[in-house]
Amino acid sequence: MPVNTEIRIGDTVFKNPVFVASGTFGYGTETDDLICADKLGAIVTKSITFHPREGNPPPRIVETPSGMINSIGLANLGVEKFTAEILPLYDSMNTEVIVNIAGTTVEEYLKVLEKVESVPNRVCGYEINISCPNVARGGIEFGVDPEITRSLTAQLRERTDRLLIMKLSPNVTDIVEIGRAAEDAGADALSAINTVIGMSIDIASRRSSIATELGGLSGPAIRPVGIASVYRLSRAAGIPVIGIGGITSGRDAVEYLLAGSIGIQVGTANLRDPGIALVILDELISYCQKQGIESVSLLTGAMDEAS
Ligand SMILES: Cc1cc2nc3c(=O)[nH]c(=O)nc-3n(C[C@H](O)[C@H](O)[C@H](O)COP(=O)(O)O)c2cc1C
Repeated sequence: MPVNTEIRIGDTVFKNPVFVASGTFGYGTETDDLICADKLGAIVTKSITFHPREGNPPPRIVETPSGMINSIGLANLGVEKFTAEILPLYDSMNTEVIVNIAGTTVEEYLKVLEKVESVPNRVCGYEINISCPNVARGGIEFGVDPEITRSLTAQLRERTDRLLIMKLSPNVTDIVEIGRAAEDAGADALSAINTVIGMSIDIASRRSSIATELGGLSGPAIRPVGIASVYRLSRAAGIPVIGIGGITSGRDAVEYLLAGSIGIQVGTANLRDPGIALVILDELISYCQKQGIESVSLLTGAMDEAS
């Protein structure tokens, strides 16, 4: 039985709901010899900032129970080089590309988006990483404050007609409040979740296992946090939610879709197997075939809820 895998967010149709998550698949242009990236629903680039960044000092990753902690520090080429050298490479790719943007001030986010908008390219939209410290407000993360989220989203919205997806941090009191602020200000979709604050200490040296002490926990350890976030957001928001966090199999993807997400992103699992997203897609299709489900989109929010 053929299964329709297409999903739609705003005016963009994605060939399937399996995307690769920011920071875990490079710019999406390096994997030619490893996997056919054209089969993915979309590639989300690593975060692009205004200035080039080398990232944090090593060690910047450590394995933890069912996951890892990273503190890469947004290492990237900077938007000038990205637009000159990487963007044109997407012309020959046959999948949707979403540019992830990060910044430490509102102006930085705006300048990165404006630069990408200023040159011809075929990216379908932007995912905005609001887990970065806002220097103007004394170093707190953008994504923990609904008013900053609202204002940033509104200003980005004024500058693009392409998809605007706000990527939410779980390191907040109430993720729903932040999601609603983004929706009110014109976001087309929400991505949930980014990494969870975590720490691991080497008991021999008595030092943190990574140089920045605290880092971002990802992988299967955070899957229940991601699913709960998607469940709550999709019931509270009128815009689609893309589920992220600990997805390693088709089974995990189905769980996210049932919780309410329209699509999913595969992150940490790519570091072990860059082809895992395509395996997840195959497993998702097999699940639909076995269950007699004609279209993957029918799974979104289709869980039975306690009465
Ligand atoms: C090594 C690494 C680098 C990451 N870099 C970024 C980044 O640049 N921008 C971003 O928005 N998220 C970044 N993330 C977060 C992931 O995109 C994803 O939201 C998170 O890891 C949860 O998904 P997972 O459990 O499948 O990895 C990074 C994650 C990892 C593990």
